[in-house]
Amino acid sequence: MTILTIPTQPFNDQKPGTSGLRKKVPVFKQAHYLENFVQSIFDTIAAPQGATLTLGGDGRYYNLEAIQTILKMAAANGFGRVLVGRCGILSTPAASCVIRKYQTFGGIILSASHNPGGPDGDFGIKYNTQNGGPAPEKITEAIFANSKKISQYLEYQASDIALDEIGEFDLGGMVVQVIDPVTDYADLMASLFDFNAIRDLLSSGFRIKFDAMHAVNGPYAKEILVKRLGATENSVMNAVPLKDFGGGHPDPNLTYAHDLVEILYGDNAPDFGAASDGDGDRNMILGNHFFVTPSDSLAVLAANAKLVPGYASGIAGIARSMPTSAAADRVAAALGIPCFETPTGWKFFGNLMDAGKVTLCGEESFGTGSNHVREKDGLWAVLFWLNILAVKKQSVQEILMAHWAQYGRNVYSRHDYEGIASDAANGVMQHLHENLGAFSGQAFGRYTVKVADDFSYTDPVDSSVSSGQGVRILFTDGSRIVFRLSGTGTEGATLRIYLEAFEPDTKQHHLDAQVALAELITIALQISQLKDRTGRDTPTVIT
Ligand code: G1P
Ligand code: ZN
Repeated sequence: MTILTIPTQPFNDQKPGTSGLRKKVPVFKQAHYLENFVQSIFDTIAAPQGATLTLGGDGRYYNLEAIQTILKMAAANGFGRVLVGRCGILSTPAASCVIRKYQTFGGIILSASHNPGGPDGDFGIKYNTQNGGPAPEKITEAIFANSKKISQYLEYQASDIALDEIGEFDLGGMVVQVIDPVTDYADLMASLFDFNAIRDLLSSGFRIKFDAMHAVNGPYAKEILVKRLGATENSVMNAVPLKDFGGGHPDPNLTYAHDLVEILYGDNAPDFGAASDGDGDRNMILGNHFFVTPSDSLAVLAANAKLVPGYASGIAGIARSMPTSAAADRVAAALGIPCFETPTGWKFFGNLMDAGKVTLCGEESFGTGSNHVREKDGLWAVLFWLNILAVKKQSVQEILMAHWAQYGRNVYSRHDYEGIASDAANGVMQHLHENLGAFSGQAFGRYTVKVADDFSYTDPVDSSVSSGQGVRILFTDGSRIVFRLSGTGTEGATLRIYLEAFEPDTKQHHLDAQVALAELITIALQISQLKDRTGRDTPTVIT
């Protein structure tokens, strides 16, 4: 076996987005494309000779091929050991868990999260640092800079390694250690939650349905919910991971997880429903005929954290992304702990967790997590909910109604306009930017604009500044509209409009969010000139 030095030309489009580099599979399959990016990662992180790397992915199309290439490149680049999930599988939170538990020199995670997979679907790759979290912007920027000047990469010339059995294999002096993808993660969950209480709940006639959406969490849910917690076999649906997620869109929301939604809103519905996404880091929580917004979910978990063994001694603080509703802020205020508002993307939570400033974090995009790993964590959120339900012995809806009665309700919805022509989408954002000054003080119906700005964040730990993070229209009564463009898409542009209104009146709490937000929705369309500029006024996805 020999190390090959392969000459290459830079690609100019390898800029990581909100969560790593995401492109269509045919883009990744171009000669040298994956290799260029991987070498750019290795050149940037400059791992010491003999370092250990974690490697795994969500099992989507091209996962295994990419893993084999990365193993050969890791060997040629001087790594001493790679911990790789059996069959190349690691959910994103499990990868974060493995990096932290075995203190590896970070890890490479292959996933395009909730984006569809398959030969023409999406693929993605990202580097997580030694704390187990997504690389911060200064590293992703450096990787991008390296990708623009790369001239060669290193790869071991070797045949593929068999990854379907646990064990250790030699690859040019580097050890490839194939690990069980589930065990370490399941053990971590058992250390945080009261499994006995949840087991009792599940044997008491409380029925659950978890939709793995043919994605990576199937085996994790089977092991934890069925094997360790005694849920019935049919409590987990779509549990077999498929390379193309069965042709579906593995995004746990009311639109794409419709099979589950129909069950939870149908006759004889279970008491609790949940789904997770392609790589297992997102979650959706449902009760019997009831939907919990991710923003509310974060607030409920924070308010009830003391009921859960892993958090019984209290939480240090909460962080939420800017577009996430302020429901968690109200809980933080009541608990007398800080609440941080960060830009969109999990990578902004890492510093706060490492510095011990926050314990729980959440995003409106179905992401919730804590300092147990440095990624959002779908099954963790499900177990947190089950632990609370086991202790409180109330329904999901009862818990939410009581929560709103105590704190008030931050009525919330996100409207996504997918597949807009990039020029038109940029035009909307430019129009908003140009009018920020003009919006201030202006009245729209019963709402008056207090501040209109472009969100900018200064990290309280390392003082790094991230600007251009979304246009905020903040109204005097605390309601707001936020506009931003997605940074994870691979086709055209996706415009996200986030709508939030605070409702203290208990008598209004039963209202459907779209009804309660109707006036704000109209204002959002008016001030963005969306219809004129894009021809669209109906969202593709409402969450
Ligand atoms: C989306 C979500 C964001 C999340 C990211 C990765 O990014 O909005 O909260 O962190 O996916 O899961 P966006 O497409 O909005 O840039
Ligand atoms: Zn994901």
